Amino acid sequence: MTTLAILTAAGSGTRLGRAIPKALVEVDGAPLVVHAARRLAASGVVDAIVVTAPAGRADELTAVVAGDAHVTVPVRAVEGGATRQQSVAAGLALAQPGDDVVLVHDAARPFASPDLVRRVVAAVRAGHRAVVPGLPVADTIKAVLAVAPSSASGGGVEPVTSTPDRASLRAVQTPQGFDRALLERAHAAGASRAADAHATDDAGLVEALGEPVVVVEGEQAAAKITTEADMPSTGMPRVGVGVDVHAFAPEGQPRELWVAGLRWPGERGLAGHSDADVAAHAAADALFSAAGIGDLGQHFGTAEPQWAGAAGVVLLAEAARRVREAGFEIGNVAVQVVGNRPKIGPRREEAVAALSAAAGAPVSISATTTDGLGLTGRGEGVAAVATALVVAR
Ligand code: CTP
Ligand code: MG
Repeated sequence: MTTLAILTAAGSGTRLGRAIPKALVEVDGAPLVVHAARRLAASGVVDAIVVTAPAGRADELTAVVAGDAHVTVPVRAVEGGATRQQSVAAGLALAQPGDDVVLVHDAARPFASPDLVRRVVAAVRAGHRAVVPGLPVADTIKAVLAVAPSSASGGGVEPVTSTPDRASLRAVQTPQGFDRALLERAHAAGASRAADAHATDDAGLVEALGEPVVVVEGEQAAAKITTEADMPSTGMPRVGVGVDVHAFAPEGQPRELWVAGLRWPGERGLAGHSDADVAAHAAADALFSAAGIGDLGQHFGTAEPQWAGAAGVVLLAEAARRVREAGFEIGNVAVQVVGNRPKIGPRREEAVAALSAAAGAPVSISATTTDGLGLTGRGEGVAAVATALVVAR
């Protein structure tokens, strides 16, 4: 008498829109599928886990989930199918002779609690052969004649056909728990239906057999991650550091001075292939550092020659774009210019505006001299140091 959990992770996560399958997206240092597996294992009522994997990634998923120290039950992964229903069927085919209860759980609900897992299994073991967790709905729900989003006719106007009594509605979640024989019968019957008629949950297949299904109390933590807005903010911000130094251009080769996105007329320019904007460069480096995605040289160095000679603020804007693309919100960036010249104070507001516009986030700027010491004190060049703060979305 053992309980098998089928953990569905074969979807591509189209609506989340990341470059990798949704189940492999990391939150708090672990992929969503691992978070889900940890909680199944922690329930103490799950004996083994079968993970449904995206095409060609079964071995990878086995290694990732079984390799996690907190996943303390045996794990195997199997390639899923084109629909969720087919993926669950592929997982169910791996059930072992002793498995009499089967849970089906979505990796897209990674934070469903061990308590919820126990509640569902207890209800099955108490004699309910199909159990789903559900919550009352807060919104009034209308049934409509759906207009496909791409449909030219209808203009998005959808006629209402009925308003079910809200008190009798439940939004259902996973893990859903079943008597194994009943679930196998439900999937066998469902397999003959067309792919576009495939069930989005397993209880639906049991209902189609005319067999009873019961709802137990669900929980907010079991909410599904579908779009970026559903991703938990992991809370802890991340800081980064960046430093840049440029020497003044030789007397014989005068250049314009560009610092903090501003041209400084009458000031001696800095040497470099780019505009040598130390403040913008340090800010960009701090952003990469905070996001943990390398540094300025790695992003804009010889590997990407199109950036050679680009203005500092252009690099800062592109750095900010890459950091956001990597899944971070930018809190702020603080830059300090170190050198005798230029005098930042009188143009601080302009500099703040130029750098903030580039980063799309508040950038503050301060300045200091070094009491005549070092390369900046001797007037050989200008340095800038920056810190950035980002938060994972
Ligand atoms: N799933 C699966 N096999 C499929 C499709 C979905 O195992 N062929 C799984 C997903 O990995 C997910 C769960 O079913 O854990 C719920 O599906 P959904 O939230 O729709 O995830 P995706 O299908 O990955 O996302 P999308 O529909 O946005 O592409
Ligand atoms: Mg889907």
